[in-house]
Amino acid sequence: MPDLTVVGAQWGDEGKGKVVDCLSRTARLVVRYQGGPNAGHTVRARGRETILHQVPSGILSPGAKCVIGCGCVVDPELLAEELAGLARAGVRTRGRLVVDGRAHLIMRWHRRLDRLREERAGAGRIGTTGRGIGPVSTDKVDRVGIRAADLLDEDAFQAKFKRNLAAANWLLMEKFRADPIPQRRLMADCWQATRPLAAMVGDGGALVNEALENGRRVLFEGAQGVHLDIDLGTYPYVTCSSTGVNGVASGVGVSPLWLTEAVGVVKAYTTRVGEGPFPTELAGAEGDTLRVLGGEFGATTGRARRCGWFDAGLVRSSVRYNRFTALALTKLDVLDSLVEIPLATGYRLRPQAGETRGGVVEHFDATRAARLEPLYETMTGWRTPTGHCRSWRELPLAARRYVRRLEELVECPVALVSIGSDREQIIEVKKGALQWLKSG
Ligand code: GDP
Ligand code: IMO
Ligand code: MG
Repeated sequence: MPDLTVVGAQWGDEGKGKVVDCLSRTARLVVRYQGGPNAGHTVRARGRETILHQVPSGILSPGAKCVIGCGCVVDPELLAEELAGLARAGVRTRGRLVVDGRAHLIMRWHRRLDRLREERAGAGRIGTTGRGIGPVSTDKVDRVGIRAADLLDEDAFQAKFKRNLAAANWLLMEKFRADPIPQRRLMADCWQATRPLAAMVGDGGALVNEALENGRRVLFEGAQGVHLDIDLGTYPYVTCSSTGVNGVASGVGVSPLWLTEAVGVVKAYTTRVGEGPFPTELAGAEGDTLRVLGGEFGATTGRARRCGWFDAGLVRSSVRYNRFTALALTKLDVLDSLVEIPLATGYRLRPQAGETRGGVVEHFDATRAARLEPLYETMTGWRTPTGHCRSWRELPLAARRYVRRLEELVECPVALVSIGSDREQIIEVKKGALQWLKSG
C-alpha cells in the first residue's frame, strides 16, 4: 500500500528530516501530523543545509505536495520566515503547501507565557523549546483556541484575538507579575503577518483522504519522538502531542485503518534536549566526546544535547507502541573512531524502600524511569570511516555486527543505515524490507 509513516523512536533529533527527505522523492504528499515550530528537521542536499521547522521536509522533493495537518500547531510569523528562507534558497513553495483549517495558531503571547513559565519554574522546568507549544495546547484543550480557518474571517478572528489576549494579559500580570501586551498594535501586526498563511488554509484532511482513496503515495512525517509523547512519554518532560503512529489518524483526519507501514528512526546512540530521565546518559568527558563527534547541538534552539549510549529498552518499547515495519538507523558514522561501544540491553530495576529485590526490565517504563539502571554489553568498534559506504557489504564487519546486535535486541529489522548527513549517505540494508521502496 502506498503509505508510510516516519517516526522518531527516541527523544527527538534522530535524523527524521534526513530520512524523510530520502524517502519522499517518490511521494505525492508529505504530511506533518503533530508538533509545530518546536521541531527542527535538517536536510543536507547538494552541499546546502536546510532546517525545516513547520514545513514538511518533503518540500525539498519537487514532485511532492505538503500538508500541515489539523494536529499541528502553527506559528504564522515563524512560518512566514521559514517560507521566505526557502524562497531565498530557490525552493518553490507556491501552490505546494496546504495548512489544515483546524490547526491551532501560536500567538506571541503563547511564546511569552511558555518562556516565563520556564524561567519561573526553576528546578521544576521542563526545558521546552520556548515556542509556545504548552500554552497553545492548553487553549486547544480548553476549547478557546484560534485556528487557521479563523484567518479567513476578520471579524471572528478579531473577536477571538481580543478575548484570548485579555486572558493572556491577566495571566501575565496576575500570575507572572509581568507587563501586559498592548492590544491595538499587536492585532494589526498579527493580521498583516497572517496574510501569507491565510492563502494556504484549506481542507488538508480531505486532500490526504482523496490521495489515499486514489492510491497515491502519502508519507506522514512525525516530529519529536515516541518518548516525548504526551501520553506515552516521560511525563511531564514531554511535548504536547501524540508523536508516534498513534498521532496520524487524529492529526490528519484519516482512518488508522489506512496505515500499513511505519519506519522508526533511531540514532546509533541516544540524545535528549531538555530535562527528564535518561538512563544511559553519559556525564562528563564521554558525553562531551559523543556530543562533539555527533555535532549534537539543537537545530531549533542551539542547545547542547545530552548524550548517551544506545538504549535497547527505550527503542524496544517504541517498537511495541508503533509496530514499526523497520528501523532507519542514523549517525552510525559518529561511532567510527571508537575502540569499544557499550550498548544497554535492558535494565535492572532498583528496589524501592521495603523491597529487597528489583528484577530485570526489558522495556523502558516511563513511570519508573528513575529506578532503571542500564545493563551494558560492549561491542568492538570498527575504527575506520564509513561515510563513503554505499552498500551493506561495504560496511566494516564490526559495524555490521553492531547493527545486527541492535536489531536483535530491539526486535525490529533495520532497513536503512545512514552514515552521514548528506542525502546520498544512506544504505538500503535489506532490499524489499519496505514495501514503500519496492513500489516507488
Ligand atoms: P530530526 O529532528 O530528527 O530531523 O533531526 P535533527 O535534524 O534535529 O538532527 C539530526 C542531525 O544529524 C542533523 O544535523 C543532521 O544533518 C545530522 N544527521 C542525520 N543523519 C546523519 C548521519 O547518518 N550521520 C551524521 N554524521 N549526521 C547525520
Ligand atoms: P524534532 O522534531 C528534540 C523537547 C524539548 C523539551 C520537551 C518539551 O526536531 O525531533 P516543547 O517546546 O515541545 O514544549 O518542549 O520536548 N522537544 C524536542 N526535543 N527534538 C524535537 O523536535 C523536540 N521538540 C520538543 O526540548 O524537552
Ligand atoms: Mg530536530
